[in-house]
Amino acid sequence: MSEIKAHRISDEIIENWPDKEISKLVLEYYDLWDPSPKTHSDSTGGLQQALGEVTKLKNIIGERKFTNFFEIGTSDGGSLWLYSLLFCDENSKIVGLDVIYELGAGTIIEELKKRNRNVKYVISDCNDKNKVLRFVEDESIDLLHIDANHGYYDVKKYFENYYPKVVKGGLILIHDTNACESPDGGSVRFREEVLEPDYDHQLITGEWLITGNYDQGENIVSPGISLVRKH
Ligand SMILES: C[S@@+](CC[C@H](N)C(=O)[O-])C[C@H]1O[C@@H](n2cnc3c(N)ncnc32)[C@H](O)[C@@H]1O
Repeated sequence: MSEIKAHRISDEIIENWPDKEISKLVLEYYDLWDPSPKTHSDSTGGLQQALGEVTKLKNIIGERKFTNFFEIGTSDGGSLWLYSLLFCDENSKIVGLDVIYELGAGTIIEELKKRNRNVKYVISDCNDKNKVLRFVEDESIDLLHIDANHGYYDVKKYFENYYPKVVKGGLILIHDTNACESPDGGSVRFREEVLEPDYDHQLITGEWLITGNYDQGENIVSPGISLVRKH
């Protein structure tokens, strides 16, 4: 199975990033990930998040630490690394789930464990009832990151399957809700048809998080991550 990965952020941008906590964590991530063996031998990969998005997210979340962080689409472990260290603590239960096993992600997860993060790496299709869904209790997750495929029906299915698993007051991040072109309308259509109409949630701030390429000036209509809080 192949996937298209985002370009790597330059070291100069990372080193000069104004939020020094994020800068340090991303540099540490690459110190681990670069020398790690990889399942896939291509030269791309690594963190698939924009630093601007992560910084805005950090400012929104503030000091809150989540008790149950669940990620759909862990890939090389970049967002799992950042969100586990920024938004969780030693009491949090963390699951990074992907349909593909990545050796590089394994390295990142081992280091997270050394840093007292209670993290499980699960390899499965997230929609598999017998392997995953039936083991995730309803209203248990308080931070859900949806970042797997970006087709409309894919994102809709993840959302429908995992929405009941999120506790009231929990946050759901849906990545690339204006980033991916897809013949079926992709995650953009999902945002317009499912997130924006009245659902049992609230869109937070902005009301969007905006990422680099999609930040198109004052009349920004192009969100990178959608962030919702379940009522
Ligand atoms: C965009 S990457 C995730 C990037 C990662 N969250 C980060 O920010 O560094 C998407 C990942 O979703 C995984 N994926 C796609 N469909 C999936 C499914 N049905 N269940 C679990 N993982 C899936 C792919 O294997 C891929 O590794």
